[in-house]
Amino acid sequence: MKTAFFDSGIGGLSVLHHALKILPGEDFIFFADEDNVPYGTKTREQVLGYVDEAFKFLVAQEVDAVVIACNTATSAAVRAMREKYPELPIVGMEPAIKKALDLYPARKVLVAATEITIKGEKIHQLIERLGAEKFVELRPLPELVEFAERQEFESAAVENYLRGEFADYDFEKFSSVVLGCTHFNYFKDTMKKFLPPHVKFLDGNEGTLNQLIRLANLKPSTKKFSQVEYFYSGRRVTSENELARLEKYLQRLDEMYKL
Ligand code: DGL
Repeated sequence: MKTAFFDSGIGGLSVLHHALKILPGEDFIFFADEDNVPYGTKTREQVLGYVDEAFKFLVAQEVDAVVIACNTATSAAVRAMREKYPELPIVGMEPAIKKALDLYPARKVLVAATEITIKGEKIHQLIERLGAEKFVELRPLPELVEFAERQEFESAAVENYLRGEFADYDFEKFSSVVLGCTHFNYFKDTMKKFLPPHVKFLDGNEGTLNQLIRLANLKPSTKKFSQVEYFYSGRRVTSENELARLEKYLQRLDEMYKL
């Protein structure tokens, strides 16, 4: 089986990173739309166009399934892609609001995501379905996408940004921060500096991969090692520098995994 993980940029590596741990022996393609990142500050129509192009490329690579490892692209385009490719298993990403409320029902949830995700119909329908309007607050953190793309995770600028964004909340009233953008997983340690110790992080990685296993009917592989091919907007990544860049992200995700 060959599964594609697709994101506007390197955020989707956080989902791939989890997949490499729980689905050993599976083969993967990772597609980061580096020519068009960020998506979150663009229009929904623009994002739909980018996703459409990326899918054409991925389908030509004969992948068996696609994980849209991007909450923003899911919000803007998953429905259209499922209509266009009805035979292809397509898994989208959704902020882990239900999980947060199930695990920690007593306090509120802060969902950090992009503008598109926060303004999109999908997240509001989810909150309504859960009857959770009073328990959920939504906060766009677009700068984190840019910081992540520059591999800037702990600088004074990142700290100042997060300090300012979190200053509006009384975190005694919150149980958790839901990372509703795959680019935000790189910042857990820096976020922790501005959060009381009881606040937990939740992301949609586990739910997404469980859905992939169900939808694509994945069985444990007999192979021991996974093969991963990396692409930036349709160009295969082969240079040592770029592969080292990607490796650095995966190492960072290893550090963030336990937090
Ligand atoms: N990583 C993406 C997400 O999960 C979006 C980042 C962006 O391109 O703005 O929403």
